[in-house]
Amino acid sequence: MSDSWETHYRHFEGKKIPPATTLSKALALFNAPGCSLQNRHAIDLGCGHGIDTLAMIRQGWQVLAIDQQEGALRQLQNDIPFYQKNSLTTLCRSFEDLSELPGSTLVNATFSLPFCKPDKFPGLWQLIVDCLLPGGRFAGHFFGVEDSWKDNPAMTFHQSFEVQQLLSDFTIEVFQEMNKDGKTVSGKDKHWHVFHVVARKDLT
Ligand SMILES: C[S@@+](CC[C@H](N)C(=O)[O-])C[C@H]1O[C@@H](n2cnc3c(N)ncnc32)[C@H](O)[C@@H]1O
Repeated sequence: MSDSWETHYRHFEGKKIPPATTLSKALALFNAPGCSLQNRHAIDLGCGHGIDTLAMIRQGWQVLAIDQQEGALRQLQNDIPFYQKNSLTTLCRSFEDLSELPGSTLVNATFSLPFCKPDKFPGLWQLIVDCLLPGGRFAGHFFGVEDSWKDNPAMTFHQSFEVQQLLSDFTIEVFQEMNKDGKTVSGKDKHWHVFHVVARKDLT
């Protein structure tokens, strides 16, 4: 990631961007007939400007939005309508410094987990697995080993089988591998190797 996160957020300003398709799919699965939810607590890891956070809140979720960028969280607090403010809690913390996560039914991590340092990734992933209640869902992305940014030592990349191993306590509902040339949000050429995942934590 060559641009700063502030520059990254600026590319989204004033644009009507929909929530991530992985999150939309997870929310649709929770809204399916016969799916009764006792707990509507979600965590948005690496929430950034908070498009996904706001989408979850609009659907009645209480959200803990976590990001290392204080400015992004401040913006999110400003953007949320007054009558929904009680649905949002923010935490300014790096993934590497997280030591606990509250019990939740949904963990969303849209294009954020790959930015965790590799030696800290296993601990972060264990926190995610442990905080999810049985039947809860993970929605998010992992970067593959053929991604343009693969030589960045501060980022984490996975092979397909490694992502599947991470999901051994889950039933996989979406697993889409994208491996193609494209652009970054700032318009630079980039090879994207990304796994799009929605998975439901098993009941036992
Ligand atoms: C590509 S942006 C995605 C933002 C948002 N999830 C979205 O989809 O628009 C990645 C986000 O992860 C956050 N992030 C990157 N590395 C992080 C780390 N080590 N700890 C916590 N947050 C981090 C950045 O601040 C940024 O907001």
